Amino acid sequence: MLGKNVTAMKNFSAEEIRLVLNTARKMKQIIRGGEKKLPNLRGKAIVNLFYEPSTRTRTSFELAGKYLGADVVSINSGTSSIVKGESLRDTLRTIEAMGVDAIVMRHKAEGAADFATQVVKPVIINAGDGAHAHPSQALLDLFTIEQHKGRLAGLKVAIVGDILHSRVARSDVYAMTKMGIEVHFAGPKTLLPRFFEFDGVTIHEDIETAIENADVINVLRIQLERQQAGLFPSTREYARVFGINDDRLRLAKDDVLILHPGPQNKGLEISSNVTYCERSAIHDQVQNGVAVRMALLDLTLNTGV
Ligand code: NCD
Repeated sequence: MLGKNVTAMKNFSAEEIRLVLNTARKMKQIIRGGEKKLPNLRGKAIVNLFYEPSTRTRTSFELAGKYLGADVVSINSGTSSIVKGESLRDTLRTIEAMGVDAIVMRHKAEGAADFATQVVKPVIINAGDGAHAHPSQALLDLFTIEQHKGRLAGLKVAIVGDILHSRVARSDVYAMTKMGIEVHFAGPKTLLPRFFEFDGVTIHEDIETAIENADVINVLRIQLERQQAGLFPSTREYARVFGINDDRLRLAKDDVLILHPGPQNKGLEISSNVTYCERSAIHDQVQNGVAVRMALLDLTLNTGV
């Protein structure tokens, strides 16, 4: 995977996904061992370029690069020349001119990461482009599922909530189906994809049939910043009909695993009890995010010299 641009799960083979998961397992052991300064990427430079807010993704990419020995700089759109109107192309070329090896980027426009691969040479890692893709999140979701369930193939995963605006759902579906997982989407009709974008996914307009017999429920955030008005009647109504709470969890398997990419709208798509219940792996997802991002950076950048 040396030199591979990580823009979407669509461009990953099952073998590459397996390699990332196996490498992440080793990285997790290293983190657990307490010695978090590896020489793997010594001499490499990585820039995090984020045009949209982020806590988990940006921090974990930054720590992942630093644990592997790279120099990492994070650029925040609010405090850079972006506020002076510099174009994405010019910003990317400016960063390239400084001699960086990889750019981890998040942008509100779908296709921004693919565009970057066409205008600059460093490895591009997409940390989220509009509603299109968020590959490292899908990989950490798979990793977390495998750590808890011991396998991927044959599992049933229900992805529930605001599918329409979710780059996580779009990346999960490619990653999961490639690994033999059966994927179900559920949400209000107005928040389901309008066109038939996905092969092999079952779509439900009610939550109950989707979570029945599911091994995993991935609860998505209602993306209030990407919504036009009127996609659902009210937040109270949404929580009542589609929210994942104790009552709804009773309909699921006893050992169902709960995921949420964060940040959560507590009391809207998920209740506080569910977030903190023993079936929730939301905290583990954050921990695993560092190991998975270390794996991605190592596999794409480590030239072994
Ligand atoms: C997700 C994102 O930004 O797409 N969050 C994340 O990366 N942890 C999901 C979301 O914002 O709802």
